[in-house]
Amino acid sequence: MRSQIAALVSKGLAKAYPNAEIRAGDIGGMLEIPPEKSMGDFAFPCFKLSKTLRMNPAVIAKTLSETIDDPATARVECAGGYLNFFFNRENFARQTVEAVLAKPGSWGASDAGKGRTVCMDYSSINIAKRFHIGHLSTTVIGSSLMRIYRFLGWNAVGINHLGDWGTQFGKMIAAYKHWGTKEMVEQGGVSALSDLYVRFHQEAEKDPSLEDEGRAWFKKIEDDDPEAMEIFSFFREMTLKDAKKVYDELGVSFDSYAGESFYKDKTGPVVAALEEKGLLKESDGARIVDLEAYDMPPCLILKQDGATLYATRDLAAALYRKETYHFDRCLYIVAYQQSLHFRQIFKVLELMGYPWASSELKHVAFGMVSYEGRSLSTRQGYVVYLEDVLAKAKEKALDIIREKSPNLENKEDVARQVGVGAVVYSALQNGRIKDVDFQWDRVLNFDGETGPYVQYTYARCSSVLRKAPEGAADNAPDYKGLCDDDSQYLLRLISLFPEAVSDACDKDEPSIVTRAVTDIAKAYNKFYYENRILDDDPAVAAARLKLTDITRDVIKTGLYLIGLEAPERM
Ligand code: ARG
Repeated sequence: MRSQIAALVSKGLAKAYPNAEIRAGDIGGMLEIPPEKSMGDFAFPCFKLSKTLRMNPAVIAKTLSETIDDPATARVECAGGYLNFFFNRENFARQTVEAVLAKPGSWGASDAGKGRTVCMDYSSINIAKRFHIGHLSTTVIGSSLMRIYRFLGWNAVGINHLGDWGTQFGKMIAAYKHWGTKEMVEQGGVSALSDLYVRFHQEAEKDPSLEDEGRAWFKKIEDDDPEAMEIFSFFREMTLKDAKKVYDELGVSFDSYAGESFYKDKTGPVVAALEEKGLLKESDGARIVDLEAYDMPPCLILKQDGATLYATRDLAAALYRKETYHFDRCLYIVAYQQSLHFRQIFKVLELMGYPWASSELKHVAFGMVSYEGRSLSTRQGYVVYLEDVLAKAKEKALDIIREKSPNLENKEDVARQVGVGAVVYSALQNGRIKDVDFQWDRVLNFDGETGPYVQYTYARCSSVLRKAPEGAADNAPDYKGLCDDDSQYLLRLISLFPEAVSDACDKDEPSIVTRAVTDIAKAYNKFYYENRILDDDPAVAAARLKLTDITRDVIKTGLYLIGLEAPERM
């Protein structure tokens, strides 16, 4: 509709003001969606024109409204400096239904990103630590953005930049050599590893020589010593095995698990380049890049003992990714607490002479998660493990389903889709930067703005279509049956869904899709209560069934883009 209205404006302009310096291609973008229904479906503001034409915008609007005459598309009214367009409802319904039906499963998809590559650094968990709720946001925001970018034609590369480097791994090996066994770690997984780490610290208080042992083992990892590497890889493998259970449950995957240790032989050249470009400075025996001129504390490159830091490895990683994937954009989906770190490494890369660092690298930051009103803290021992949250969500969903739909066949499977979906949805519901508090009552409410609510609406659409008499949806539709306010509102949201998806991509903000799909679900339920779908007039019934069909299709796409499954029955 946007392009059709734009064409009307363009034609009107050509007739009334052939000298107006405005390109036809710009008009679509100038159309606004009025804040109130009474102001029409689209509005064209004449203020910009009034500058170039040196005329009162209201006069321009009046003249244009008299020139534009296409009632089959829209009725036009002028109000002040605006032209307000009211769609021809029947025509709008037909066009929207036909457009969505023509692209099943891909309403809103495009090839806008064709030929372009985006790297996404997300989830990026730490080895030997259990997957806790603090890593939920990065995991699901990243995974959703992967889907959204791909839906828009981008080549998206998902990278799990594992936290697998640091002196703690030397300590863990020392502890393993003293008190651990292979079986113990194989059975206990990550928990066994963290137990070993805790034990190390307890024992080291009594026997400080353990610290030296830990250091020695870390040195061996640095030097690629075969035994150290074997144990270290084993720890990594065990952690990933546990994490993959969670990833599978969430439907999340990666193209690369190149973590910090992957860059151990790639930091040397970075340090050399910094040196050569005269960017390195000495500070208390450490090597830094001074960023005072940019109002930032120095970026630490090497410690006194010559060891690299988190930032050094991120510099190497950015260069490696550019070289390997030739990205056009590289996103870091990491909590806002690390925003200084990213500003520093982006600046250092820029100073090294990489202009893409300022235009193509982006820190996609998000807020903190608290749990039932309490903030999480590893230090104070208040951690909530994602695996436990998912298990509890499935259990609670199963209780609700047993009560609401005792006759449902595959209850367990639906409970999985709904329980996991509820958790994912809760992390993608609000703008990323907002802190979120995870509350069970809210997350699993089937009537609120939740994952289960949207999934329930999807199942409702499926059920309406299943229960309709055979062939009812294939009758010739009469779109007069979709001219009421509720049908029109639903159609309007569906027609705007593609804009929501591309907006979500431009802003790296999956919540825009969450919002859009939730609004569509709400609008469908309103339509459902206000209209008799199987109307006596088979042509009206066909139109309403078709609207149900496209709603179902778009909800499925929306759910997919935020990482939720769509149950046929609930
Ligand atoms: N492992 C880090 C953490 O858990 C996040 C890593 C983010 N990615 C990066 N390239 N620095 O805090």
